[in-house]
Amino acid sequence: MHVRSYRPGDEDLLRAMTVEAFAGTSIDENIERRFGLIHGHDWRWRKARQFDADLAANPAGLFVAVEVVDGREQLVGYVSTRVDPEAGIGHIPHLVVAAGHRGRGIGKRLIAHALDYFRRQGLTHAQIETLEQNPIGPRLFPACGFVEVARKIYYARALDH
Ligand SMILES: CC(C)(COP(=O)(O)OP(=O)(O)OC[C@H]1O[C@@H](n2cnc3c(N)ncnc32)[C@H](O)[C@@H]1OP(=O)(O)O)[C@@H](O)C(=O)NCCC(=O)NCCS
Repeated sequence: MHVRSYRPGDEDLLRAMTVEAFAGTSIDENIERRFGLIHGHDWRWRKARQFDADLAANPAGLFVAVEVVDGREQLVGYVSTRVDPEAGIGHIPHLVVAAGHRGRGIGKRLIAHALDYFRRQGLTHAQIETLEQNPIGPRLFPACGFVEVARKIYYARALDH
């Protein structure tokens, strides 16, 4: 497995991987469970747009984990990043490893890659977040050197009354 920069043409697979990976652990799906479809769109549609927004915001900071099988690349995960050089802080909005490839250290390697990228950009700190309902982040992120600094509560309501 190696990590390389995003290339145009990767996006369809990475978008699909994102939607698959966040089933059961996304704010958008929680909202859908409570309110149903919104404006004719399901949570997958909204989640896919978040990937598109990451890509549009910082394509140079999107890194893809790749396995080469019989000389052919297989995309198995990615990490997206945003950088704020003035603030000195980098942010990791999305980290995904495809289901069949988890538990082999790929997630950790993608985080390490993102942190090295931040350092090369002259940043001094990094942020990442997780939902409480996701059992992985609260173990994985401290294992990668992050310390908890806050908890946040998300609310939503319909506008029909
Ligand atoms: C989170 C994710 C990227 C981790 O990828 P991965 O390649 O399996 O991670 P690694 O193999 O590098 O695991 C690193 C650590 O994560 C934690 N971890 C991994 N799977 C876990 C699980 N099912 N439950 C709890 N902790 C877990 C462990 O601390 C593990 O370290 P250890 O094996 O030394 O105990 C992957 O599970 C995924 O894509 N999940 C769906 C999307 C998601 O939740 N993204 C993160 C948003 S918070």
